[in-house]
Amino acid sequence: MTIRIGDEAPNFSAETTQGKIDFHDWLGDSWGIFMSHPADFTPVCTTEIGRVANLQQEFTNRNTKLLVVSVGTKQNLTPLESHKEWIKDVNETQSADVQFPMVEDADKSIANSYGMIHPNANDTLTVRSVFIIGPDKKVKLIISYPASTGRNFIEIIRVLDSLQLTANYQVATPADWKNGEDCIIVPAVSNEEIPEKFPKGHTVVKEYLRTTPQPNI
Ligand code: BEZ
Repeated sequence: MTIRIGDEAPNFSAETTQGKIDFHDWLGDSWGIFMSHPADFTPVCTTEIGRVANLQQEFTNRNTKLLVVSVGTKQNLTPLESHKEWIKDVNETQSADVQFPMVEDADKSIANSYGMIHPNANDTLTVRSVFIIGPDKKVKLIISYPASTGRNFIEIIRVLDSLQLTANYQVATPADWKNGEDCIIVPAVSNEEIPEKFPKGHTVVKEYLRTTPQPNI
């Protein structure tokens, strides 16, 4: 299945390390980050889970819930036992305290419904996918990394900030934008509407390129 930006995020009911969830109900009015990991007890994944756990407050500040799927589990354990044992290792080795759930996906149906398993990479392991899902349950961002490259979660927070600005203030963000820098007024806003919508002021660089100080700071 191919999911594209703007599609509804596939829903599922499943057991997690924190109990059974219906994904959409669990998200509620929050934003969501659903990310895949090739396997439990693997080195890059261990650092990633630890990094996200150590950034937990940043996600909470952005009203964003985190959910992890990892399809490769330890053979002599049930999937949930494997996840729970791995979380202990993550906490120990990454000085972390993982607060977010990992979902059980023994038959890989959840990973497959998100297109997280790429036969060209490996037909049993997921690639490192990240889906950002809005409160409307629509997919806002999809990125995929190869298994050998750990993701940059500061970049994911940067995109979350950009998406939330667009959702709330009708601005876009320019190349390499960082929190606190000027934003771009989206084309749907007419010149006449600008003074009321952007009282901090604006600059017309070109008719099609109008900037304004970041509205939410
Ligand atoms: C890792 O997390 O280190 C990893 C997982 C699967 C393949 C390669 C690396």
